[in-house]
Amino acid sequence: MPSGTIKVNKPPPMPIVGPPPKSTKYKGVKHTIMVMSGKGGVGKSTVAVNMAVTLAQQGLKVGVIDADINGPDDPKMLGVDKEKVYADESGISPVDTKYGVKVISMGFLLPTEETAVVWRGALRHKAIQQFIEDVVWKDMDYVILDLPPGTGDEALSISQIVPEVEGVVIVITPQDVALLDARKAINFADQMKIKVLGVIENMSGFVCPHCGEISYIFKTGGGEKAAKDHNVPFLGRIPLSQDVVETADEGVPIVTRNEKMKEIFSEIVSKITQKTSA
Ligand SMILES: Nc1ncnc2c1ncn2[C@@H]1O[C@H](COP(=O)(O)OP(=O)(O)O)[C@@H](O)[C@H]1O
Ligand SMILES: [Mg+2]
Repeated sequence: MPSGTIKVNKPPPMPIVGPPPKSTKYKGVKHTIMVMSGKGGVGKSTVAVNMAVTLAQQGLKVGVIDADINGPDDPKMLGVDKEKVYADESGISPVDTKYGVKVISMGFLLPTEETAVVWRGALRHKAIQQFIEDVVWKDMDYVILDLPPGTGDEALSISQIVPEVEGVVIVITPQDVALLDARKAINFADQMKIKVLGVIENMSGFVCPHCGEISYIFKTGGGEKAAKDHNVPFLGRIPLSQDVVETADEGVPIVTRNEKMKEIFSEIVSKITQKTSA
């Protein structure tokens, strides 16, 4: 070593401590609830969004994670489909909606509404992990996870990433096949050791737009039966209503427009909060 050079002792290498325990970054959320179903198109996103808005109307801080990477519908349903997300050193900020709910979705990251996400399971897992861990969710009373259809990869990913999912709400429609799917969702939750907060029967009866009378196009009572058979709570019925479709397209959650739906969702949500607030 040439004279005059100061010898600097390098610090010892950091010990390798292994992967951090699950979800160390997902902090400050009191209750995490997953909305799932055995199949698609039964109204999970409708239920997740309106449940979230109902909770926010009660003065609670609520976030929605749209875990449907291939079919992200929540931004549109919450009227923020033109927004983008921002990130800084502290993490990714969820998008604020005018209904007091914050939301994160793959929809905010796509160049256009028509862009298809063609990702394999591992990438979808990564995206969901980021929505959970890298988004600033602190000080939330409730975070609602809106799942893609079925009991596949995403549901599994979430139960691996967030050990503190407090419960699952299962949405079904009244037909027999849907009941079969509901059983799958209940069994999935059992296997994952996640509490089933209850079953909601959506599209249960049709509200006539003219006279307001409800006709039962499909059968009814199936959700209640599935809940009873599996010894899980029944949370309520949501009728099929033209208003739901119209308001969803306009980005207005139905509970902010329709008194009857507001009442129905309030009852459902109060059953859920009774089971989760500790
Ligand atoms: N109770 C309802 N009455 C009328 N339309 C509904 C109702 N629930 C859901 N829908 C409509 O059905 C479609 C599928 O609902 P969505 O919530 O996207 O289901 P999922 O998330 O399970 O795929 C949407 O167009 C939605 O507006
Ligand atoms: Mg959906």
